[in-house]
Amino acid sequence: MDKIRIVGGRPLKGRIPISGAKNAALPLMAAGLLTDETLTLNNVPRLADIDSMAELLAQHGACLAREGATLSLTTPTITSTVAPYDIVRKMRASILVLGPLLARCRTASVSLPGGCSIGTRPVDLHLSALTQMGAEITLDDGYIQARAPQGLHGAEIVFPLVTVGGTENILMAACLAKGTTTLVGAAREPEITDLAQCLVAMGATIEGIGTDCLRIEGRERLHGATHRVIPDRLEAGTFGIAGAITGGDVELVGAQMESLRAVAHLLDTAGVEVTETAEGLRVRRHPDLARARGVDVTTQPFPGFPTDLQAQFMALMTLADGASLITETIFENRFMHVPELVRMGASITVHGSSAQVRGVPALKGAPVMATDLRASVSLVLAGLAAEGETVISRVYHLDRGYENLESKLQTCGAIVERVKAAPQHDAGGFAFGQADR
Ligand code: EPZ
Repeated sequence: MDKIRIVGGRPLKGRIPISGAKNAALPLMAAGLLTDETLTLNNVPRLADIDSMAELLAQHGACLAREGATLSLTTPTITSTVAPYDIVRKMRASILVLGPLLARCRTASVSLPGGCSIGTRPVDLHLSALTQMGAEITLDDGYIQARAPQGLHGAEIVFPLVTVGGTENILMAACLAKGTTTLVGAAREPEITDLAQCLVAMGATIEGIGTDCLRIEGRERLHGATHRVIPDRLEAGTFGIAGAITGGDVELVGAQMESLRAVAHLLDTAGVEVTETAEGLRVRRHPDLARARGVDVTTQPFPGFPTDLQAQFMALMTLADGASLITETIFENRFMHVPELVRMGASITVHGSSAQVRGVPALKGAPVMATDLRASVSLVLAGLAAEGETVISRVYHLDRGYENLESKLQTCGAIVERVKAAPQHDAGGFAFGQADR
C-alpha cells in the first residue's frame, strides 16, 4: 500500500493552485439525479471520493463523461433506486442520493452509512425531515427504505442542530416537492450556497441562499445547467497552515477570503498573516516571529472555525510559543491524530472534547498513520515541519480529499514523495521510489 515519505524542515515557498471543493462537488453530482437533462460541472477535482460518487450515480442510471476538470452527467431515466452497501460504506456522502431519488422516483433504498472513525454520524435528521415531507421510511436489513407514493410535499423543517448533509439532502428533495418547503436552522457552509446556486441554474426557486433559513418553491421538473464548483476552502486552509508551520510564504491561487474569514482571523491572532492578492490569498508567519503564538479555538458550523481544519490547526499549535486549548464541538471522536502527533514529540492532553496543546520547540519525524482524511493531512503538515523523516501510512485517506498533494507541495520546495511498501516486508521495510532531492 502506498505511503508518503517526507523529509521535514524546509520552508514552503511558492504558489499553490487550489482545486475545486470535494464537499461541494459531491452534492452537486447527486443533484444531477434531479433532472433527465445534462448537468455539466466544471472545476471538479480528481479524487477517490469523486470516483465513488460517479460509480454510485452510474449504477442509478447516470451516464458520466469526464474531460479534464469538467464532468457531465445525464440521467435520462433512473434505472435503479438502490444505493448498495458496497458503495455507501466507502463514502458516507452517498447518503446524498436519498433526497434526489425519492423526489424523482418516489422510492429509494439506501444503505445506512453506519459509524465512522470520527464519530457515530447518524442520519436521523435527514430521515425525520423527509418524513415531514410525506415519506414513509423504514429501516430493513441495514437499508433505509423510503417511499412517497403521493410524491413529496412542502413542509416547515426545523433542524435542531446544524447538519450540512441533511440541509443538502432536503434542499435537493424540496426542489421537486409539491409546494413550499422552509428549512429553519439550515447549514450555511459555502458548499450549500454553491449547491443552491446550481439548483437555481437548473430551474429551482430558492430564497435565503447563504442564510440559515432557506425557502424552496417546488417545481414539476428541473432542467440541465452548467456550473463551476467553488474552490476548496479546506484545501486552501490546509496549505495555508502548511506555509505557516514551516515558516514559509505561500500564495493560494484561487482561494477566497470570504470562505476562510474565521480561519484567517485565528491565524492572524497566532501571528500568521493572511492577505488577499490579485489571484487568491497569501499566507506567511509574521516576519518578526520565530514561532506562531498559541491560541485557543473551538470548532463551529460556518461561519465559525471548521472542524475540517481542526487537526491541521492542532499541528500548527504543537510548535507554537505557548499553549492552546482546542475544542471540537461537531464530532465526538475527532482527535485520532493526537497520539500520532505525540509520537512526533508534541505535548497534547485530551480532556473530553478539548485538547490542551503545549507548544514545543521542535517535532521529530516518525512513522505515523491516521484514520481519516483531515487527521492524515495534519500528519503531513507536522512532517513538513519536523526534523528528519516522517513516513505516513494509509495514504488512501489523503487521496480521498487532496488532489496532487505531493506535487503541489514539491513545487513549493518540500521534500515529499509517494513510496510503495515492498509486499514481502509489509511489517516494516519500505522500498523508496526516488532518492532525496
Ligand atoms: C459534512 O459531513 C462534510 N462532508 C464533513 O467533511 C464535515 O466535517 C461536516 O459536514 C461538518 O462540517 C461532506 O460535505 C461530504 P453534518 P456531514 O451532517 O454532512 C450530527 C471531510 O473531512 N448529525 O453537518 O456528514 C453528526 O453526527 C468531511 O471532508 C446528526 O446527529 O456532517 C455530526 O455530529 C468529514 N444527525 C453533526 O451533526 C443527522 O441526521 C454535523 O454533521 C446528521 C448529522
